[in-house]
Amino acid sequence: MSLVLGIETSCDETAAAVVDDRRAILADVVRGQLDAHRDYGGVVPEIAARAHLEAIDLVVARAMKDAAIGFDALDGVAATAGPGLIGGVIVGAMTGKAIAAAHDLPFFAVNHLEAHVLTPRLTHAVDFPYLALLVSGGHCQLVAVAGVGRHRLLGATVDDAAGEAFDKVGKMLGLGYPGGPAVERAAACGDAERFALPRPLRGRPGCDFSFSGLKTALRHAVEALPPGPLADADIADLCAGFQEAVADAMADRTANAIALFRGLCPGGATLVAAGGVAANRALRARIESVAQAHGLAFVAPPPRLCTDNAAMVAWAGIERLALGLADGLDFAPRPRWPLEELAG
Ligand code: KG4
Ligand code: ZN
Repeated sequence: MSLVLGIETSCDETAAAVVDDRRAILADVVRGQLDAHRDYGGVVPEIAARAHLEAIDLVVARAMKDAAIGFDALDGVAATAGPGLIGGVIVGAMTGKAIAAAHDLPFFAVNHLEAHVLTPRLTHAVDFPYLALLVSGGHCQLVAVAGVGRHRLLGATVDDAAGEAFDKVGKMLGLGYPGGPAVERAAACGDAERFALPRPLRGRPGCDFSFSGLKTALRHAVEALPPGPLADADIADLCAGFQEAVADAMADRTANAIALFRGLCPGGATLVAAGGVAANRALRARIESVAQAHGLAFVAPPPRLCTDNAAMVAWAGIERLALGLADGLDFAPRPRWPLEELAG
């Protein structure tokens, strides 16, 4: 049996986890930094880097304690080495390398996006190839996943990432950061039909995404309301309308991607959703219905493993360990690291 320690520090969660090659998660520690960033309405990179530095040793120690093992029981150490806020990525990657060096273990420089798109193999043993809808705070992509390190980008956002759009809407409506979960909560009792909002790119060929026009339309809808604080019912209706528009746009883009995926990977049978926005129940339900309509199985990890965590990083390490794909300790962290540039 193989055991890998994973470390994740690319945004505002300091996380460490221990996972084995039988898909057991022995430890999964996630420490958020929301209090440190709240006054700024978003993640401040310098504050994030310092907070990771303060927390990382404790978070790793907690994960090892939860797993009830010592470092010598590990078969490898995996750390997110990009893409992300570079100060935080450096903290996690350096910590991972130090543990690997001190205990003579292989080190895996994990691409954060690959960690998200491989998570359905940790939670549901999905076979390659599959189509992945990756929707997070930093990314919004449709990817054909042929194997570890073998990804083909079918479409991506031309402006905001999906989570970024949720966060900006949350901020516009005074719901705080992160906006995604708050928008989903408010939308639950809203009327999605009250405001007429656009469905970006719907009906157009291709699988790219765009959210800036939808965001602007929402702002105009807010401005057209009587001046003064927004009523709870207005907020609920705006959130429901926005979420429905995102769901419609995603369903349309995903259907186009399925057609492309079928041509590229005739043996593929699964559509997966991954990344923080895939925690949204309304969006999951909509994407699941697209999969069903096209005869694909649908898999999404539990919400806790959609948002940033280190179990997904440890799992990417397990996958790479099995293929003998260790990285050198000289691997330089990367702020930008597209999936297509990965080695498999
Ligand atoms: O994957 P993730 O934790 O970090 C990145 O890699 O970016 O994704 C975070 C994003 C945030 O923008 C957050 O608002 C969004 O995921 N998010 C959601 C929900 N939960 C988190 N968006 C919509 N509905 C949710 N329930
Ligand atoms: Zn992420």
